[in-house]
Amino acid sequence: MLSVFSKLWPRPAATAPPTPPTGVEQVRNFYNNNTDKFMQVYGEVIQAFRTNQVTDYLDYTIQSAELRDGQRILDAGCGVGGPASYFASRLQADITGVTISDYQVAKSKEILADKTLKGTVTIRQGDYHDIDQLFGENVFDRVLFLESFGHSPDQNLLIEKAYKVLKPGGILYIKDLFRREHPNAEDGRRIDNIIAAINQAYAYNVADFTEVMKTIRRLNFILLFVKTPEIRTEEFEHLTISNDFQNLFDIGKIISWEDYVFPIDFYEVKVMKPPFDINKEKHLYFLNRPQ
Ligand SMILES: C[S@@+](CC[C@H](N)C(=O)[O-])C[C@H]1O[C@@H](n2cnc3c(N)ncnc32)[C@H](O)[C@@H]1O
Repeated sequence: MLSVFSKLWPRPAATAPPTPPTGVEQVRNFYNNNTDKFMQVYGEVIQAFRTNQVTDYLDYTIQSAELRDGQRILDAGCGVGGPASYFASRLQADITGVTISDYQVAKSKEILADKTLKGTVTIRQGDYHDIDQLFGENVFDRVLFLESFGHSPDQNLLIEKAYKVLKPGGILYIKDLFRREHPNAEDGRRIDNIIAAINQAYAYNVADFTEVMKTIRRLNFILLFVKTPEIRTEEFEHLTISNDFQNLFDIGKIISWEDYVFPIDFYEVKVMKPPFDINKEKHLYFLNRPQ
């Protein structure tokens, strides 16, 4: 009788207790302590979803986020400046990077010293939740979060800040990982447990896609696209680097694949701040993008 009962009501897998979100100070310590390890494995570009030749992925980013000559670009959560310096080697753009880690700022100086740039790159220490105070409002053509958004403990506020610093018609581009929806209760518990482990190991707060979209829509951002990055399978790096990193440094190491359910989706989210003042022109609906 008991066995029938327990089949009908399988015992739930142990669920990780809810943990408070990772705070900004924790993230700063995480990168101050681990940037050398990241660089040993990832090089200058600290992104898990990438191509075998990482510059192919950065070229893809240029095209996908529509980075162009003459733009003022904010790379929010810029790491050691690998992406920013690559973009500025290709474009006559004015790129500002902000990272919470003072150690990364120091590293970025070494990296920039070796580069020949068409544009300019300035990297500074700061909290990306303060970008409106740091840089002023309506100043950037692009705000990029390249696998940096999910560190934020207050992602609604962060999107609001990105809105403020963008010029009307400017674009917010987020490339990051998002919690997968639960396909069923059992796999859902596994996903939640694995995400709790990722958050703890990487000082992350893996984003909830629905929450992010709610804020984006509340602010009247214009949705340009949401998609999985369009990388050819033969060029995709297959997350080997992330596995190497985990094995080498024991950070987020996966002990067993037995209960493993792939817990996240990688997405690009691209949205535009309306080119008109939405609070004055409430009767307008946006149809055509200005070129
Ligand atoms: C996974 S790394 C990605 C770095 C970079 N985008 C790249 O592609 O190499 C995450 C970055 O987000 C930055 N970051 C996280 N929280 C931040 C915050 N509150 N303010 C500024 N930067 C932050 C970290 O310092 C780190 O540079």
